Amino acid sequence: MSYQIKKAIIPAAGFGTRFLPATKAMPKEMIPIIDKPVIQYIVEEIVDAGIEDILIITGRGKRAIEDHFDQSFELNYNLKKKGKENLLKELRHIEKLANIHYIRQKEILGLGHAVLQAKTFVGDEPFAVLYGDDLVKSKTSCIGQICELYEQYQTSIMAVSPVPKAETKKYGIIKGKKDKGVYFVEDIIEKPNPDKAPSNLASIGRLVLEPEIFSILEKTPPGINNEIQLPDAMRVHNQIKSYVATEINGTWHTTGDPLNYLMTTVEYALDRPDLKHDFIKYLRSLDI
Ligand code: UTP
Repeated sequence: MSYQIKKAIIPAAGFGTRFLPATKAMPKEMIPIIDKPVIQYIVEEIVDAGIEDILIITGRGKRAIEDHFDQSFELNYNLKKKGKENLLKELRHIEKLANIHYIRQKEILGLGHAVLQAKTFVGDEPFAVLYGDDLVKSKTSCIGQICELYEQYQTSIMAVSPVPKAETKKYGIIKGKKDKGVYFVEDIIEKPNPDKAPSNLASIGRLVLEPEIFSILEKTPPGINNEIQLPDAMRVHNQIKSYVATEINGTWHTTGDPLNYLMTTVEYALDRPDLKHDFIKYLRSLDI
């Protein structure tokens, strides 16, 4: 498989305020789901889609992300000396995953501003965006599914997932017309009240965007929370060239707040052959 999309970006510079104090000195994207940091699952999803050039947008206090994907000479040496070949293999796998580039978002002015930092890296081609705290558990790479749709529609693609109507206020909700299994996006409404929401389809952190988004982002004023919001720019872009939205084949998990993080951990643990059996036994033993 070789898609037109050759580059992916992961915004990972945010403060992670919903996860304080854990995120005071540790990037939220490095919090593990079982034994692997969230951002590694995301990099693996990108690599599974055949994309090898990845830009991670980092900021102050995010050095652990770079260290994670770098070679740790002493650790490798130590594991080799102790004959821990399997662990060594796993670490080598991480080092060689992809060509990972980094840029710093010097001021944390919002997701839209983070994406804008990728302008030079991306150049004049469509690119994939994966939020650093969103996971999608699926048989085939979620971003791969979206890249495939880009081949077909040649316009920006959004992944969406149904949410309970009462929760529309937490997400960007699309208004769209369904045709041949996808939605032609008419509007993107940021965090609408349930009675104002045109659907229950929430935009999730998997997108393919066309480079025209950058000139729009440059003109986008701060929105909700006084941050430069990516959905505000997407909304303008969608009016110029309609986006296509697709319900993903897989399950979406947000990890950026304690409750969703816990639920994600449980679901991933129930899917791990080496842990599943004992974990279920433990859950069943709980008096709840
Ligand atoms: P979130 O809004 O979920 O992250 O952005 P946050 O701002 O860190 O979270 P809270 O609200 O303070 O708890 C989704 C992704 O975009 C990145 C985040 O790191 C996260 O991975 N992001 C967000 C940036 O890179 N820069 C920003 O200015 C904002």
